[in-house]
Amino acid sequence: TVIRREDYTAPDYAIDSLALAFDLEPGATRVKSRLAVAPAHEQGSAADVRPLKLDGEALKLVSIALDGQPLAEGRDYRVDDSGLTVTAPPQGSFTLEIETEIDPKGNSELSGLYLSNGIFCTQCEAEGFRRITYFPDRPDVLTRYHVTIRGPKDSCPVLLSNGNLAETGELSDGRHYAVWDDPFPKPSYLFALVAGDLACHEEGFTTHSGREVALRIYVEHGKESRTGWAMDSLKRAMRWDETRFGLEYDLDLFNIVAVSDFNMGAMENKSLNVFNDKYILADPDTATDGDYAGIESVVAHEYFHNWTGNRVTCRDWFQLSLKEGLTVFRDQEFSSDVRSRPVERIQTVRALRARQFPEDAGPLAHPVRPDSYIEINNFYTPTVYEKGAEVIRMLHSLLGEDGFQKGMRLYIERHDGQAATCDDFVAAMADANDVDLEQFKRWYSQAGTPEVEVTGAYDGDSGTYEMTVRQTCPPTPGQPEKQPLQIPFAVGLLDAQGQDIPLALEGEDSGATSATKVLELRESEQRFRFPGVPEPRALSYNRGFSAPVNLKSEQSAEELAFLMAQDSDPFARWEAGQRYALRLLLQAVETLQAGGVPEFDTAFIDAFREILRDPQLDKAFAAEALTLPGESYIGEQMQPLDVDAIHRAREALRRRLAETLTDDLQEVYTVNTVTEAYSPEGEQAAQRALRNTALSYLSALAPEEGAALERLVDHYHAADNMTDRMAPLRLLADIGGEAAEATLQDFHDRYRDNDLVMDKWLALQAVSARPDTLERVKALEEHPVFSLSRPNKVRALIGTFVQANPLRYHAADGSGYRFHADRVLTLDGINSQIAARLLTPLGRWARMGEERQRLMKAELERILSAPDLSRDVYEIASKSLEG
Ligand code: ARG
Ligand code: ZN
Repeated sequence: TVIRREDYTAPDYAIDSLALAFDLEPGATRVKSRLAVAPAHEQGSAADVRPLKLDGEALKLVSIALDGQPLAEGRDYRVDDSGLTVTAPPQGSFTLEIETEIDPKGNSELSGLYLSNGIFCTQCEAEGFRRITYFPDRPDVLTRYHVTIRGPKDSCPVLLSNGNLAETGELSDGRHYAVWDDPFPKPSYLFALVAGDLACHEEGFTTHSGREVALRIYVEHGKESRTGWAMDSLKRAMRWDETRFGLEYDLDLFNIVAVSDFNMGAMENKSLNVFNDKYILADPDTATDGDYAGIESVVAHEYFHNWTGNRVTCRDWFQLSLKEGLTVFRDQEFSSDVRSRPVERIQTVRALRARQFPEDAGPLAHPVRPDSYIEINNFYTPTVYEKGAEVIRMLHSLLGEDGFQKGMRLYIERHDGQAATCDDFVAAMADANDVDLEQFKRWYSQAGTPEVEVTGAYDGDSGTYEMTVRQTCPPTPGQPEKQPLQIPFAVGLLDAQGQDIPLALEGEDSGATSATKVLELRESEQRFRFPGVPEPRALSYNRGFSAPVNLKSEQSAEELAFLMAQDSDPFARWEAGQRYALRLLLQAVETLQAGGVPEFDTAFIDAFREILRDPQLDKAFAAEALTLPGESYIGEQMQPLDVDAIHRAREALRRRLAETLTDDLQEVYTVNTVTEAYSPEGEQAAQRALRNTALSYLSALAPEEGAALERLVDHYHAADNMTDRMAPLRLLADIGGEAAEATLQDFHDRYRDNDLVMDKWLALQAVSARPDTLERVKALEEHPVFSLSRPNKVRALIGTFVQANPLRYHAADGSGYRFHADRVLTLDGINSQIAARLLTPLGRWARMGEERQRLMKAELERILSAPDLSRDVYEIASKSLEG
């Protein structure tokens, strides 16, 4: 069944409080719940009394009583696959007591209460609470939780839930109990329970107003030495939220638990965040600089949810971006404030283009606030998260930091303790700043990546530059026509020396010029005039990526090379290099397809040399600027997509750069050796990134030759940290041969007991460009570390192959597709959320040539004709096939 946003109705009943008691047993856990139920509507007479509908799934009902009286099935209530309905409750308030039995051990969906490596834990967002007990499992039903946990002392010395610990005590038979009280009303998706034998790293934090908060990070024994960075990140995030947003923590305890089997990255349960341990555990030997950055940002993200998500939650799941888009924006701002802002922006845009733009251009395109869904878990998407964050960022650009913070204060003042909507958020921004944001709201309702085209003309007589800007948005499923959007579009003009020309629009005070002008687009075509300017040498637009759009404008190679060398806006400077590279790569693809040998502009290579030689340049920025667009992104620009030609073209350009710039690359490689002890922070990480980028080019030189191989192997063995070990190994895995095999084996033997590092080992083999990669992936499925029921393993091996290795996934004989569909079908019987997520690459068929289209569609049809398909996989497969 399709759930529609327009069908929303407020709940019939409020739950005034909820008492839960768990008797933990791996195969048969008993859950007793006591709900204080009150009608949410005026009940003039018995005729106004409505049935009470409770959600429930995979539950065994043990007993149910209303105001102490047992209810009879058929007479008083009915049960089906999706829940329990008390057909004729009494008028007024009443108490409902329900006992259910659940099977955490057999819960391979990892939704509800399950076991991860012997630890009881929960995942309730979005609809997992209904797999624990019968309850109105919807985010607009908020209540106070009072939770008793009883369990064995030996295997579960630690018993945790949300809020404050009220009581602990001993029971008979080696069992004990703990009682937790959460003073903040919350929806069921924020409930959490953890029980197990866990180690704890505790520190303290004093909030701005003087509250002493205990911070505890729980992990499996033996892993506590790897929690330092997460703890440090948490403290910095807490301080940052106070200073930048004026938001303070609101309880005396903040717990994080890291588990190894988890469907997503992490979960913001009130005062008891549960994490995939990949986003907690780090030390120099086992985590890369990228892993450290990821931990910092996910720890912050989940913490920030305490206000944007928990204190103010979502009315219904269509509003998911209300909390996710906003919280991603907040975690991006945190990273930008503590790291390099330009580099963060570049990486965000790279990821947006790699994941969100394709989604927005494909069969699964949906608005930031979707209009309908079959399975809500399918909507935890790059569009809701990352495009949602871009929408918030545009509001920030339009209102400025002060205006935005004014809007935030009003939003929280109005909605604290409530379940709100995206419209509520925009209304707070509009009201606090006295502006009209009606047109802006289209960003929430229209899917698709807008296209913006700019043309310019300089009138020498009047000294006026005139810019014509057009916007369009391609059709997406269910939305054939689009309306113009309000777009903040940042532009600059550069003079012949590369200096910014001060700009003021016609009619604006000419004293109020600025180097970057944010144009406010509202119509499908608009003209902007800048009087009193010299003739510009180059035009710089969408500076800072001020709007998530595709630029259609043609710029000459000379203009791009100039911007690449001169633009004062670091993002635009990087972008010019990417566009220039993209152009060369697409030309090279055509040449290769025609049987020719590609050639590359020397101007581009010269620009690369300038970057390599510029001592002033931030090294992390240089590493980004020296990285060519990825194969998937190149593929997005062509139809039909030719994976082989793309791979060969990119390799040819890499080799050409390496051949021409060998000495410079070698110099960069040598001088950027880090000699101090490892630190994950800025300066050092930037040096490693630049050095490893140089290494990558040097390995393209003559990979089969001894010297190049030797450098890679030496780099690997000399490494004293995971970043430097992974970089050469990744390159070796692409080259293959004896040296590669021996090094992969060494890596395996070194880290065989570390689950997270073994995920890296799986992934770098799955992404390899070697022709036998699929065979290798299949062989690795037999390795003891691999298991289809462990999401991190599935993502590392199968996910990497189908999502990050277009060259081998799109094998002409369809073997990649067949393998893919087979695994999706098997997984669907184990964990349908993971199966559905894994499936999306098959939906890209429309971009491929005819034969591959046929093969991909056949696999989608095969999936759809399988019996007992989950809602999750059915929704993705059927929408993917519609195209
Ligand atoms: N709210 C969590 C996070 O961002 C994601 C949990 C989603 N879980 C799911 N099963 N869909 O930050
Ligand atoms: Zn989130």
